[in-house]
Amino acid sequence: MLGRLNHVAIAVHDLEAATAVYRDTLGAEVTSPTPYPEHGVKVVFVNLDNTKIELLEPLGENSPIAAFLAKNPSGGIHHVCYEVDDIIAARDRLKAQGARVLGDGEPKIGAHGKPVLFLHPKDFFGTLTELEQA
Ligand code: CO
Repeated sequence: MLGRLNHVAIAVHDLEAATAVYRDTLGAEVTSPTPYPEHGVKVVFVNLDNTKIELLEPLGENSPIAAFLAKNPSGGIHHVCYEVDDIIAARDRLKAQGARVLGDGEPKIGAHGKPVLFLHPKDFFGTLTELEQA
């Protein structure tokens, strides 16, 4: 069911500072910051040969990453995202096996313009797991 690793997301307090570290210290190719008000985050992608890093800064009062950053003051890995060929079939298979899908269980359009779902971290070894339609 699982395909490629699409991205690893890292929550940061200061997106500009984090982008500078990836661009200048690590020498990576980075995108311009893009706000996603409907997801409560501002995002920069670090483009690597085989995957991406998604740098996430909270946006707005009810950002889903605010609590994570309160618990992880240095920032930290927030979630991993795997591609699946058929996100509805993947969701139904996971639910049938007892995994919890966050929200209303319906895919939302994510930062890459493709349907995504999030799975409860307690069902996946403490790791918030995102599935994206390939
Ligand atoms: Co993501």
